[in-house]
Amino acid sequence: MAVVEIRVYPDPILQVKAAVVENIDERIARLASDMAETMYTAPGVGLAAPQVGVSERLIVLDVKNSQGGKDLITLVNPQIVEFGDRIVEEEGCLSVPGIREQVTRAGRVVVRGYDLKEREQRIEAEGLLAVAFQHEIDHLDGILFIDRVSRLKRGIIQRKVRKLIREGQASEKNGSRLF
Ligand code: NI
Repeated sequence: MAVVEIRVYPDPILQVKAAVVENIDERIARLASDMAETMYTAPGVGLAAPQVGVSERLIVLDVKNSQGGKDLITLVNPQIVEFGDRIVEEEGCLSVPGIREQVTRAGRVVVRGYDLKEREQRIEAEGLLAVAFQHEIDHLDGILFIDRVSRLKRGIIQRKVRKLIREGQASEKNGSRLF
């Protein structure tokens, strides 16, 4: 396993739709392992392959990272098949350092996808895990959480991000809501 570099906004790879994974092979297993180590180290509770420079549909999540517990989920070609009631939660993104915003999401989702042994998975998620799934699957579609706030707010955020990156003050230690 290796910690790899996390791509940061406005890197164009964060803004394109990622390709479907056709073969869950050794390369994908290695990528998933590197992504997990990178997520745990960041620290964050979720990471999508485009965030480490690979435009393919693979995500890792562990919403217990900030509590020290390891509850790793690795999902290939994830798809949300059911959306429940709306909730508003604070989100941050490892690719948009220094920014936190309230985002409206489904409070419950059902996600389908494949694990690394090509077994079909169906996961019911609520609360933070539901938010994490939606945030990561958005990454696979080239959508950032700052795309889900108002246009006016987005402009302010974009200027703030550029300033933070320029000044090198964007790093964060609390990864409990960083996806
Ligand atoms: Ni993110």
